[in-house]
Amino acid sequence: SAAEKDGHDWFMRKEIFEQPHAVADSLLGRRTRTGELQLDEMRLSDQELRDIDKIIIIAAGTSFYAGMVAKYAIEHWCRIPVEVELSSEFRYRDPILDYSTLVVAISQSGETADTLQAIRHARLQRSKVLAICNTNGSTIPRESDAVIYTHAGPEIGVASTKGFVTQLVACYLLALYLAQVKGTRFGDEIADVVHQLEAIPGHMSTVLDRAEEVYELARDHVGERTVLFLGRHAGYPIALEGALKLKELAYIHAEGFAGGELKHGPIALIDEGMPVLCVVPPKGRDQLHGKMLSAIQEVRARGARTICLAEEGDRSAAAVADTVIELPKVPVLLQPLLAVVPLQLFACELATAMGHDVDQPRNLAKSVTVE
Ligand code: G6P
Repeated sequence: SAAEKDGHDWFMRKEIFEQPHAVADSLLGRRTRTGELQLDEMRLSDQELRDIDKIIIIAAGTSFYAGMVAKYAIEHWCRIPVEVELSSEFRYRDPILDYSTLVVAISQSGETADTLQAIRHARLQRSKVLAICNTNGSTIPRESDAVIYTHAGPEIGVASTKGFVTQLVACYLLALYLAQVKGTRFGDEIADVVHQLEAIPGHMSTVLDRAEEVYELARDHVGERTVLFLGRHAGYPIALEGALKLKELAYIHAEGFAGGELKHGPIALIDEGMPVLCVVPPKGRDQLHGKMLSAIQEVRARGARTICLAEEGDRSAAAVADTVIELPKVPVLLQPLLAVVPLQLFACELATAMGHDVDQPRNLAKSVTVE
């Protein structure tokens, strides 16, 4: 009923709007009085964590993209090499695992069969397994050595939204916790990122306040055959997630690409009027921003209609965009938390306008318990 959905038409839309709250809840109680991070179900000792020399993240679907972002964060803050792999591929390639490998399984439901089989395999090889999960007492956390629970609350829409952003939060917390234990970052640097995370719910609300602009844009794209998504760095997994949402909900052919990879093939796809949604990294000391803008110029020169998700006041992004969706200013590693929101709104509204059942897309299940 409408009451269960807080007056929204779909659970998914309700869950998108619950994200500021879900993120705030997932950050709650993670700091001691002296400002140190604490993860209550970590269960692995500091010594065990210090001994880790490799991390393999396994997940499926949207959770896999959270894992891709986690790789950027963990490698940057902790200097531990990270691989990210689809659960369904992991077990069948004879992965190199031992007691100094930490396997991180990300699963909203905690019941995905591919991920469960993968962690069983990892434990047989004596690796430690940490689960990032939204469902208390589900099978994956029960069979893991440690857990970080996300606090998104029950997610009903088949396409994951608040589950995803809280997974990102858990991944950042894990990365910062490892940095704290391993001593690769100073306490004040870690506290600084935690502060930036604590500001995210407010920034997300700002993005959600502008939902109507995104809806209008989405309704403009009914009947589209192909929609492309571009991103770089932490924005690349978000481009992939934006494309997945559109496939799942609107049944439109959508693909995400890394901005730098365009010239190696995908640019051949561009023709007149094709929409390309671009996640523009914030301006920083690196060259990411400039490189992304030149990729956008390339597609635009070939007739693409460019829709740019860019930091507020980014005039150079506005100059290459047909439409700009503004995002509050945050560091590049945290930008996924904000950039994904308009992409969720876009897919939800476009699917609604096409008359599809957003909460129960065809052929999909919320939790896939068969391999
Ligand atoms: C299904 C759902 C997706 C989800 C994926 C992984 O395919 O439709 O939304 O991302 O499973 O689920 P998990 O519960 O393991 O995160």
